[in-house]
Amino acid sequence: MRFYVLTLFPGILAGAVSESILGRAIHRELVELTLVDIRDFADNRHKVVDDYPYGGGPGMVMKPEPIFGALESLDTPPGVPILLLTPQGETFDQELARELSEGPGVVLICGRYEGIDERVREGLPVREVSVGDYVLTGGEFAALSIIDAVSRLVPGVLGEQRSPEEETFSRGLLEYPQYTRPAQFRGMRVPDVLLSGNHALIERWRREQSLLRTFLKRPDLLDRAHLDEDDLKFIESLKKRKNA
Ligand code: ADE
Repeated sequence: MRFYVLTLFPGILAGAVSESILGRAIHRELVELTLVDIRDFADNRHKVVDDYPYGGGPGMVMKPEPIFGALESLDTPPGVPILLLTPQGETFDQELARELSEGPGVVLICGRYEGIDERVREGLPVREVSVGDYVLTGGEFAALSIIDAVSRLVPGVLGEQRSPEEETFSRGLLEYPQYTRPAQFRGMRVPDVLLSGNHALIERWRREQSLLRTFLKRPDLLDRAHLDEDDLKFIESLKKRKNA
């Protein structure tokens, strides 16, 4: 999986991806990162990449020429999606992470300043993507989230850990509570069932905890989750308890 990131601040990404799981994935060439400094494609001697907005108003706008130039310099496989990171885009989620992880790569264009010249949207086949309803100082931080979420779905990146399929959002439910030793800490005990050695009971407890958490914290997810008959019965009992 290769990520091509167009940015004015390649150092933000270079530092963040050098550690931990991503750092190892890059070292093992499971994930490749091509950082392209948009400033290298400025078409003027002073390397200026932004300018005042036509019509006036505060802030600066990123010029189109360096972004087109940077994109056209890439040697990407055909059909690679080009994401323009902006709070105006569709919200990134696990489904999009999976879709991207199944392709050969992704181009990520990081915006900065007050905005990007509209002709980037008009003239390039970009898909606008946001990482949430808040405004970052630049698309680099959004790009990092996307690189991280997509990379961990690439086979081999997570090592021998359980499959990402089993996790929150893939199954459509929040994770059950996890504990490790000691069994008792500052008066707080690990639930007896987890010490029982009864795997069927543990499985059921975990499933019910996932359902309970999702019911309490993110009930909107229950509509899309894959639920069996037992799950539905358990949720009915939660609803009755809530209304009692
Ligand atoms: N750039 C600034 N804020 C952003 C957001 N929420 N998502 C993607 N790119 C951004």
